[in-house]
Amino acid sequence: MMELFDSHAHYNDEKFNEDREEILQAVWNEGVTKLICAGYSLEASKEAVKIANSHQNIYAIVGISPNDIPEQNTEYEQILNRQLQQIEELANNEKVVAIGEIGLDYYWNKENKVEQKLVFQEQIELANKLDLPIVIHTREAVYDTLEILKSEITPIKKGIFHCCPLNLDLIREGLKLGFYISFAGPITFKNAKNAGEAIQAVPLERILIETDSPYLAPEPKRGTRNNSRNVKYIAEKIAQIKGISIEEVAKATYENAKKIFQIK
Ligand code: NI
Repeated sequence: MMELFDSHAHYNDEKFNEDREEILQAVWNEGVTKLICAGYSLEASKEAVKIANSHQNIYAIVGISPNDIPEQNTEYEQILNRQLQQIEELANNEKVVAIGEIGLDYYWNKENKVEQKLVFQEQIELANKLDLPIVIHTREAVYDTLEILKSEITPIKKGIFHCCPLNLDLIREGLKLGFYISFAGPITFKNAKNAGEAIQAVPLERILIETDSPYLAPEPKRGTRNNSRNVKYIAEKIAQIKGISIEEVAKATYENAKKIFQIK
């Protein structure tokens, strides 16, 4: 049977509080045999680790996303430092396979660009120190993101563009840096103009697939609460564009995910 690896989902989201175990059982039953539970705040990262520790086939990533950095106030620095220290402590767990999701988001927050960059860079340094890859969230901030990723002050060993924006500059530069490109629901959307070109630009050995559940359900499930069973629609779309079988896409993305996250 075909096995699938969902490289980014948020089972730590409260939208799964009512039926998390039921959903996960259905996910395993449909051949999604490994997945990554992604943190985005300190609390969500703690929850991700808890979920990973109690499920053999779930791994966690921990980090502070650009949309979750502490509010600007007099205690800002202390709060931030304390949070980053706790992220480091959480990362000291064999089920934690990356630092993320971290990055820049100018769609939701334009007022704190300086702070976003700083928190991003600090977590890149943390990932380097722990020898972990980074999982990058970037939205409407392509060129600032690339500037940080290419900077020589914080050279990055391994990275993944999660729910990669369908921007060819970002994809090409990311590939040059040796990064993996993780495709999500938007490649299946009817208005995704660049999807074909973006998928063609990435060699199969550098592609990951993800759902970003509970968000971004792919076609034909768009608009519903997403779950990892839908990762097959991402694989299907990539297979269609590349003119190969869905089994080939499943196998390659499974191996790629195991490699970049160092999972045996
Ligand atoms: Ni996410």
